[in-house]
Amino acid sequence: MIEVQGLTKQYGPVTAIRDVSFSVAPGEIVGFLGPNGAGKSTAMRILSCFMPATSGTARVAGYDVFTQSMQVRRRIGYLPESVPLYTDMRVAPYLDFVAEVKGVARGERRRRVADVMDRCMIADVQNRLIGQLSKGYRQRVGLAQALVSDPEVLILDEPTIGLDPRQITEIRSLIRALAGRHTVILSTHILPEVSMVCGGVVIINKGAIVAQGPIDTLVEQFFPTARVEVEIVGPPPAVREMIRAIPGVVSVHDEATTNGAGRYVVESARERDVRAEISRLAAQQQWSLLELKRVGTTLEEVFIRIVAGEEASAVAGGEVAP
Ligand SMILES: Nc1ncnc2c1ncn2[C@@H]1O[C@H](COP(=O)(O)OP(=O)(O)O)[C@@H](O)[C@H]1O
Ligand SMILES: [Mg+2]
Repeated sequence: MIEVQGLTKQYGPVTAIRDVSFSVAPGEIVGFLGPNGAGKSTAMRILSCFMPATSGTARVAGYDVFTQSMQVRRRIGYLPESVPLYTDMRVAPYLDFVAEVKGVARGERRRRVADVMDRCMIADVQNRLIGQLSKGYRQRVGLAQALVSDPEVLILDEPTIGLDPRQITEIRSLIRALAGRHTVILSTHILPEVSMVCGGVVIINKGAIVAQGPIDTLVEQFFPTARVEVEIVGPPPAVREMIRAIPGVVSVHDEATTNGAGRYVVESARERDVRAEISRLAAQQQWSLLELKRVGTTLEEVFIRIVAGEEASAVAGGEVAP
């Protein structure tokens, strides 16, 4: 549904994105994740025919964004980073106007506008001037205009920015509900947001893609071990040594000791669940087992590892061969 090949964009001497390639399958929700200045908005502006790339190609819904931009525009909804709303229009007539421009039939427009105002929680301000709305309401009107034509593809640049925590939760569930019926690419610099909303992720840093794929796969790729956290009352050297001797255990780290209880993080091969063995060991040794739990790896840890790894290799002297 979205196919990007070797996309590069230069703003004068600044290379905002460099040789970016990725694809998004129909019905997928993919998160475009990266720190500020990474190039997320640039890539999204190109995908939504807002400006041309310097080189490379992008196809959206089967059409080339450069040579077939009319066909692309008709099939996408785009929420830009700073929403250029018509401030002197009222909310409902504005959405009706957008629907008309996007080719929604006259007889269907009223229903579509009502539906989208409902889903974006803006029905209560439908007669207000857009220019007089708060930032949070404007952001939701921006999302509503992207959705009003029921487009195949949604390109949402930081859709939750400027919203309060309750609105963020509501917008996230609204976006999640689009999966399957729409293809969505959304950018964010908020890490947990990606795990909450998206199936897959494209991580971009300094204009280049550094990792992409389903979140679970990325976690496995960058963290080949599973981790278990244990809290045990027992002599630390013996605890460490005997847990370390369990087959499959790769390492045991001390975390902290409080009131005679030691906390340890046990790393093992990903397919090995060593919790049962740790609990048996504690029983045999008559150690009190206060806690035993598996700790998941977050996307945040993956991100830090990737971005830190990049910086380390840059310091070490240039590019690493693929
Ligand atoms: N219109 C522009 N003119 C010059 N440089 C720009 C322009 N827009 C973005 N940039 C630069 O391109 C890089 C990527 O910016 P952007 O795509 O906005 O990143 P992000 O959305 O990830 O924060 C940054 O270094 C930014 O300063
Ligand atoms: Mg941006």
